[in-house]
Amino acid sequence: MISSDLFPYVAGLAVIATAAYWLSSQRPNLSSIPAVGPTGLISSYVGAYDYLRNAPKVLQRGYNKYKSSVFRVPYYDKWVVVVSSPQLVDDLRQSKDEDLSAILGFGQVFAAPWTLGRGFIDSDYHTKVIQSAMTRSITARFIDIRDEVAAAFEDEIKLPGDDWVAVPALGTILRVISRASNRLFVGLPLCRDPDYQLLAVSFSMGVMTSAKKINLFPNFLKPLVGPWLTNLPRDLERAKKHLVPIIEERLRLEEEHGPNWAERPNDLISWLLEYAKGEERTPHMLTQRMLIVNFLAIHTSANSFTQALFHLAQGPEYVEPLREELEAAIAEEGWTKSAMGKCIKLDSFLRESQRYTGASAVNINRIVVNPNGFTFSDGTHIPHGTFMAAATHATHHDDQNYENPDEFDGFRFAKMRGNDEDRESIKFQMVTPDVKYLSFGLGRHACPGRFFAVNELKLMLAYILQHYDVKLEGPRPPTEWFGTLAAANRSAKVEFRKRQT
Ligand code: HEM
Ligand SMILES: *[C@@H]1O[C@H](CO)[C@@H](O)[C@H](O)[C@H]1NC(C)=O
Ligand SMILES: *[C@@H]1O[C@H](CO)[C@@H](O)[C@H](O)[C@H]1NC(C)=O
Repeated sequence: MISSDLFPYVAGLAVIATAAYWLSSQRPNLSSIPAVGPTGLISSYVGAYDYLRNAPKVLQRGYNKYKSSVFRVPYYDKWVVVVSSPQLVDDLRQSKDEDLSAILGFGQVFAAPWTLGRGFIDSDYHTKVIQSAMTRSITARFIDIRDEVAAAFEDEIKLPGDDWVAVPALGTILRVISRASNRLFVGLPLCRDPDYQLLAVSFSMGVMTSAKKINLFPNFLKPLVGPWLTNLPRDLERAKKHLVPIIEERLRLEEEHGPNWAERPNDLISWLLEYAKGEERTPHMLTQRMLIVNFLAIHTSANSFTQALFHLAQGPEYVEPLREELEAAIAEEGWTKSAMGKCIKLDSFLRESQRYTGASAVNINRIVVNPNGFTFSDGTHIPHGTFMAAATHATHHDDQNYENPDEFDGFRFAKMRGNDEDRESIKFQMVTPDVKYLSFGLGRHACPGRFFAVNELKLMLAYILQHYDVKLEGPRPPTEWFGTLAAANRSAKVEFRKRQT
């Protein structure tokens, strides 16, 4: 890491270099797209600074003004074209990879070449693994995940008597999610190994911290500063200590018995090996891929769950109906995935929480890769190289999309699912994205981990409802914004006590 006293100098250099870049002719010509904020060379920096500090407000201004089309906002390293109309968001959904690249968009947001490794942009085969083998295994591995959620909460939340105990929310949830996810990814005993657990959490959060810093620099400087601002090499070495012996053993057994040997563990290492080709099969690259999936799974889910926990702690009126529904479902189905499927209010509560306080003001990050640009269905033309995103937060808080959008209504989607015939339908379920609900993205590249994430979050909320009472002292802890990224408050505590009723 760059020491903090050097940082202002490096940042100063970056500003000068960026000015040079903005003057250069390589930038896409976006003069026909209306801009929010100043567009001059120096003044757009003021705009970018404003955007970094007030992204949701700036986006809201653009959204209100250009609701039926697109607008652009200045970011430090680029202009971002923001799509606000549902019709045009649907164009994003239908777009092809040859026109709009999701992986390059994702790669830029997370400064992937430095934070996740070069291999991330070259191949995203883990996406196929998550879509197919991992998602298929949720039913079979459900009881394991439930077991790990229970064990993790027991270890994390110690309640000797009947009194309230204040528990740091995000930190606790991160560790529970690290264990629950890794029960699926690597199984016992590694998912409980303290060093591995800590590594999974610190790597996930570290990617976010590093990406925020690296993205203050223009693209051509990123290769220079990226290596100094990432923990990847250090974390990779640490992860290898845990994973390489297991991976080598797997490769050996596969060599011996063929790819589908009888006692092959049903875990992420096996699933990755089903799809990995060539260099991706080395223990080094497989370890890196394991870290990538840990990153994708942990920071997102922990953020989402912590926000939901704040909502629960502030909404005692939700507790009884959620418990009743849960107990009825468990009585009928046991602790299974289908029991979770019956918990319509629980699903609604988590979906509403993600609607209300998502992890980002914009989603569906795409870069125009077609050399001829991309043309929306209303004729708006976007040149090659442009970075685009949909205005998630503004969409989620638009009163044309939701009644009283600025009110948290935990059972909003349960009510929308309505009468008995519609209750089994997938519409308005948390796993189902639509143009008004963008927390998991939309279309071909919508989050493939959402089926696992939703089950995991439901199990966690179910465990809390069954075993604890929760409350918050004081108002809802404010969300921590950095540019478009929204993180659940890091320092806030939630009070837990043994369930009394
Ligand atoms: C509540 C938790 C989660 C949230 C809110 C979330 C959100 C997202 C979003 C917004 C995208 C971008 C979609 C788009 O651009 O259209 C995405 C992509 C992705 N997510 Fe998630 N995610 C979560 C959990 C997970 C988990 C648990 C995994 C893996 C086990 C995962 C793996 C991925 C992958 C591989 C992609 C890239 C898909 C592609 O480009 O085709 N996510 N996620
Ligand atoms: C950008 O495009 C507009 C037309 O949309 C044109 O008038 C202008 O000259 C172009 N600017 C540059 C720098 O190419
Ligand atoms: C997080 O919440 C605590 C109180 O719960 C508050 O003191 C702190 O300012 C919040 N952090 C941010 C960055 O808003």
